[in-house]
Amino acid sequence: MSTRFISHEFCFTPLIKSGMMPDIMRCILENFIVIEGLDGSGTTTQLEKLANRIGEERCAVTFEPTDGAIGLLIRQVLRHEVTLTPQAIARLFSADRGEHIESPATGIRAIAGEGKLVICDRYLFSSLAYQSPDCGWDFVFSLNESFPLPEILLFLDVPPALCQKRMEVRNGKELYEDLSRQEAILHNYKRSFEAFSQTGMKLHVINGTVSPEEIHENMWNILSEHPSLLRY
Ligand code: TYD
Repeated sequence: MSTRFISHEFCFTPLIKSGMMPDIMRCILENFIVIEGLDGSGTTTQLEKLANRIGEERCAVTFEPTDGAIGLLIRQVLRHEVTLTPQAIARLFSADRGEHIESPATGIRAIAGEGKLVICDRYLFSSLAYQSPDCGWDFVFSLNESFPLPEILLFLDVPPALCQKRMEVRNGKELYEDLSRQEAILHNYKRSFEAFSQTGMKLHVINGTVSPEEIHENMWNILSEHPSLLRY
């Protein structure tokens, strides 16, 4: 693993100028970890467990949609309080992400750049998975083209039917929670993993059907060797 932080500009400019930039060319943002999974797969539980184990000093945990102005509007859409076109929703997720990554001092790029591990519940893979069924893959991909990839992507693998069962015990349905929908979302998750398979990002597909404690241990085994944690 390289320990050099590669800036976005450094990575893209020469390739754009030479007209040789492949579609999937991306920068990896060091110290940036993402957890993804279907609704009901347990990403939020695992984020909390990692945060408790690693501690505030060594890691920052965060999530998308964020609790910023754009993220709050997105949550109103998810609760059906505001109605927007699928394309506008996809643009909002992307705008929220732009703020999340680039905000000076508090953004993911700034914190990861200081050497702290940043663990994020959902990222651009969620947009590709959830927005593509309505907006088309290319549209969503282009909205997310400028964002860096995480160093490590942890995908919580839980069959859609089991996620559905888990969701039934929760109150109220959000926008994307039907079974057939979840199957389409899973299909697009897999497509996104394929699309980024040559980028250097490390993908770990984790069995999400075992106990939360066992899942946590599996995630911890992956992250505990990370250089940003070994420094302490
Ligand atoms: P999340 O907060 O993980 O769900 P919950 O509040 O139920 O724990 O995510 C909210 C929903 O937003 C989830 O169904 C996935 C969806 N989503 C997208 O559709 N696109 C995106 O880019 C992101 C980040 C989330």
